Amino acid sequence: MIKIKNDIFILETMDTSYILKKDANGLLKHLYYGKKIKVDDHETFFAPLELSGSFLPGNAIRYDKTEPGNIFLEDELLEISSPGKGDFREPFIELVHPDGTVTSDFVFDSFETYRGKKILADYPSSYAVSNGSFEKSGIGSENISDTASDVCTLKIHLLDRNMPELKLTLIYTVFEKENVIVRSGRLDYSKAEADTGSEGSSEHNASQDKDQKVHADADSEESKDLVFIKKFYSSQLDLDDPDLILTTFNNAWSREMNRVDQPITVGRHMNSRAPGVSTNISNPFFMVESPDTTEDHGNVYGFNIIYSGCHSESVEKNEFGLIRVLAGIDPDVLDIGIGSGGSFQVPEEVLSFSDKGYNGLSRNMHTFINDHIIAFGKAHRRRKILFNSWEAAYFKISESKLLSMAKDARDLGAQIFVVDDGWFIGRDSDNAALGDWTVDNKKFPHGLRSFGEKLKSLGLEFGIWVEPEMISEKSRLFEEHPDWALKIPGKSHSEGRNQMLLDLSRTEVQDHIIKVISDLLNSADIKYVKWDFNRVMTDMFSACVKLYPESHRLNAFYDPEHNAFYSTSVITQDGNEEKPHKERFGTEIYIKDFSSYPYLYYQGLYRVMKVLTDTFPQVLFEGCASGGSRFDLGMLSMFPQIWASDDTDPIERAFIQRGCSYGYPLSAIGTHISSSPNHGTLRNTPLGTRAAISLFGAAGIELDTGNLTSVEKEQIREFVKIYSETSAIITEGSFYRTRPYGNAVLDQIQSFVNNSALLSPDSVLSRYSQNICAWNAVSPDKSASIGMVLQVLNIPDQVRLKISVRGLDPDALYEVVLLQDPLNVKVFGDLINTMSPVHIRQNGFVHGIIEKKVKLRTEELKVKAYGSALSEGGLILPAAYAGTGFDEKTRVFPDFSARLIIARKIK
Ligand code: DGJ
Repeated sequence: MIKIKNDIFILETMDTSYILKKDANGLLKHLYYGKKIKVDDHETFFAPLELSGSFLPGNAIRYDKTEPGNIFLEDELLEISSPGKGDFREPFIELVHPDGTVTSDFVFDSFETYRGKKILADYPSSYAVSNGSFEKSGIGSENISDTASDVCTLKIHLLDRNMPELKLTLIYTVFEKENVIVRSGRLDYSKAEADTGSEGSSEHNASQDKDQKVHADADSEESKDLVFIKKFYSSQLDLDDPDLILTTFNNAWSREMNRVDQPITVGRHMNSRAPGVSTNISNPFFMVESPDTTEDHGNVYGFNIIYSGCHSESVEKNEFGLIRVLAGIDPDVLDIGIGSGGSFQVPEEVLSFSDKGYNGLSRNMHTFINDHIIAFGKAHRRRKILFNSWEAAYFKISESKLLSMAKDARDLGAQIFVVDDGWFIGRDSDNAALGDWTVDNKKFPHGLRSFGEKLKSLGLEFGIWVEPEMISEKSRLFEEHPDWALKIPGKSHSEGRNQMLLDLSRTEVQDHIIKVISDLLNSADIKYVKWDFNRVMTDMFSACVKLYPESHRLNAFYDPEHNAFYSTSVITQDGNEEKPHKERFGTEIYIKDFSSYPYLYYQGLYRVMKVLTDTFPQVLFEGCASGGSRFDLGMLSMFPQIWASDDTDPIERAFIQRGCSYGYPLSAIGTHISSSPNHGTLRNTPLGTRAAISLFGAAGIELDTGNLTSVEKEQIREFVKIYSETSAIITEGSFYRTRPYGNAVLDQIQSFVNNSALLSPDSVLSRYSQNICAWNAVSPDKSASIGMVLQVLNIPDQVRLKISVRGLDPDALYEVVLLQDPLNVKVFGDLINTMSPVHIRQNGFVHGIIEKKVKLRTEELKVKAYGSALSEGGLILPAAYAGTGFDEKTRVFPDFSARLIIARKIK
């Protein structure tokens, strides 16, 4: 709901209030964002939120001597900021005017509100849905106070007092149920508008100050009266709370989404890197919270951009203890110019607040992403279990080998069979053939259609791997189009995984990718695509990018005029060519150098993704970038799930997936059961643990089926059965990270970590300071929950382990069971001799026979309890084996053990 009272704008969600105010100078001040507060017709409800007083301290800069009040911007909470008027913090927007001045002074001009939300023309964006269709119209200027829609938008237009030709529009969409506010901004440059004044419900026209209007030489070919955008973030949030923590998710390949907490001290912290991708080094999701925040209590803000390219988050505390949080496109890739008549839109930033700790924030983000980011309805689709050939066979694939694997996969319960890398001509290793998407007839003598039909007759759907944004130097495509590769002519170039990027800023390259991938998807009955991206961006150059003083035209993402998402021709599923709506449509910009290249690249990529996902709606696309190097909302808006990491070791994965879960729903996280020892870590782990971790996501199987014993096959079948019974809870339900209570293990490991010179607080291993990882997901009607508890290292004489099951109906009665896994007698090693009348050689022949004959299971637990008891009191698991005794109630819980806990409502 949006309420407007005089000069105050109140954006209300179910549990939060976001309040801003236009002051007497026309400045937009931020008053409050947090837990919902009472707002009524009382004129002064906002009085405690404002700084009053009229004297400026010491060497403070007075904002404007001709304006009322003594405003010192550095000590104000501002809704947006710009340089040059006494605010020395990182600015929201920084422009270079045609005369070279860099001082901007945006003041309020007018506003409008409307129900629903418009889709952005230039980027993937969040959507509102009404009766199954996008809401995108309904402009009005009435105060929305009793809207039936729970999604409504406020646009505030500001004009630059230094250059009134510039209009800055701040766009806020309120998603009431999800407790989310989406912000973005747009800069319009129009001389005509400044001369005639702006239309609409202008309350304060700031364009009267004509004296300050700056004119560049109209005849100058060089300047063209351009305005250059140096910085333009998507959101700014100024907070008057000096004691806050910044939580980011950083690390590297195979170590994605490692949570890092740090106190926000005076100065500036940046969460950005510019390798041309959102990256595993610094994921764009981050949080700012009170130091006392826990999983279930405390105030926490969450932020995420709907964009996959270079992003930047700046968190700065100034000398007055005010904290400014900015998030948006990395200024390093901006420096983009627009001329009169031009405009520039920034992507959307998702903001949410919860006073219910990290879990509360995660639930806001999960619901929002499932319902308003991932293409309509796709997040809620039940996920089929897939089998992926990569860790099963790598490049050594052939039709016969894959079909025999497919039979095993089908017997295990898989529903989709995915042929990963290696299926196309010349692709026997990772040093050739990217770009040549023609099937290798030696490996598939009857072609892909026939292979797909064979899969179908086995009851499996056909999935395939592609990496369309890439080109290998050893490829036909490179021979034909060397200039399509991203490299600087005449200079030696850098390679990642022996490959280069294609220049996606070129429309012909975009069209080529659309064509070859369309041809591939039309060549067989393909239902799933894994879209990989295995190197980041270097050697930025494009023969087709026109540099300043020439102008460059971008393809738009969405064509509002034709209500379509692309502007050049596409080949439809039935092989027909769909003609362009308009030959050239999109924004005209000026670029001085190739540092802006990543920006252009993503405009091209989004067009390609949108055309393909629109043309092939039956195909489920899974994003992948050497695992989770592009795990972001831009990708998720079109690809409903992303392979979270190339690290398939379940212990690593537990922490990677837990990291993802802070900001992303389980429906989006690709998870597979792999073999043991793991190919990346060489760590041995029980199959039960691998299965338990994989269950919490878009699950699959990725191992050599030939190595599975019959017991293991049975165990995987059981896993598939549980997955199909519970996948609706995973994709639709609420997720809770839980922690054990009264567990001395935590303290022991923590002191081990602190005493180790090798481990810094944010090092890779510090996550093991949380020796226990536990969580549960609950169905929307609270009738069932599935939970998981994992122990990293076993600690002697630690028999007690309590977990909690959260989110249940407090008054309902549940039956809780632990799922029992097969327990291999060899886990006890030569202790077998304490039971055996004759000596048995460990791992010898007799030991092998006993292993097959003796069928042990993990411990039994079946209890009934009320939801409130399970959540608040917790559930104590059966005592752990601690050197003596073993029976069916003893929890044998060596290193890397996990258990699944199912709760079903019975009354
Ligand atoms: C990297 C991916 O993350 C892997 O899963 C696999 O698809 C390989 N690429 C194939 O080259």
